[in-house]
Amino acid sequence: MLSLSLLAGVALASQASAACSRAMLEEATAAYIKAQTDGLPNMAALTAGATYAENDTPMEIQKGVLSQSIPIDFSRSLHDTTECATFTEISSSTGKHPYVIHTRMLFTDDKISSIQSVVSDDGDWLFNATKHLKWNSQENWGVIPAAKRDAREVIKAAGDAYLDSWGDGTVVVPYGTPCARLEGGEYTGASKPMINTCTMPLFPLPFKITNRRYVIDEDVGGLDIFNDFPFIDTTQPNGTSSTNFMRVEGGMLRYIHEVTVCATKNCGR
Ligand SMILES: *[C@@H]1O[C@H](CO)[C@@H](O)[C@H](O)[C@H]1NC(C)=O
Ligand SMILES: *[C@@H]1O[C@H](CO)[C@@H](O)[C@H](O)[C@H]1NC(C)=O
Repeated sequence: MLSLSLLAGVALASQASAACSRAMLEEATAAYIKAQTDGLPNMAALTAGATYAENDTPMEIQKGVLSQSIPIDFSRSLHDTTECATFTEISSSTGKHPYVIHTRMLFTDDKISSIQSVVSDDGDWLFNATKHLKWNSQENWGVIPAAKRDAREVIKAAGDAYLDSWGDGTVVVPYGTPCARLEGGEYTGASKPMINTCTMPLFPLPFKITNRRYVIDEDVGGLDIFNDFPFIDTTQPNGTSSTNFMRVEGGMLRYIHEVTVCATKNCGR
């Protein structure tokens, strides 16, 4: 009983601490999509002192991808009213330069104070924007009815277990059935859409995924974890810029989208 009432308390606390309105965050992600379409990072909510970074490298916003006009063929966004943050995934496959971009924006006093993107293109891990668009657009990330929504802690725990499992075979991951993973343009659910194809083989060496940065949206069971991924790119032993965008339904992982930037073509693999 104690743990149940503690859990209830946690759920209440996260509701009570909602620090930003969903409408404000939704307006900001719509403005971000428009800015990326136009190549004009002039969102009304952007503060003059906002920081901008791509692939964990700070840069001037005028020099970044947000200052290039690119077609947005498909996008999905998360709105985190507790942490005042958003996440947006962009599939852009029909322009001259195809991209898949994962962006988190952080807010202070209802203004955008930081924009951080993982920008993947040709040569990054399993990259193919055409295939990313094809599989992504078939998935259902619709709003989950209020009575069926998972608590923030449940969604976060599912995502953390997935990342923890890569370097620790004892971690039990709540994979749903079905579960499909999109890594770059490769889709595990392509030929077996009704089963769980998300299970990761154990990597040969133990390692920890560090510098996790979360955006969580209970309304759609959505979670993204920006992280430093060691192991995959042998030239980057301290980790490379990576994010995992996940959908959780009833506590179980349903979809996983990984975007990982490589210093060498396909991370040297
Ligand atoms: C991406 O995948 C499509 C469909 O399989 C293929 O036709 C295309 O050549 C691929 N693009 C690249 C850049 O590999
Ligand atoms: C990895 O981190 C260690 C310790 O901070 C540092 O000495 C080393 O140069 C880093 N390696 C690379 C390739 O960045």
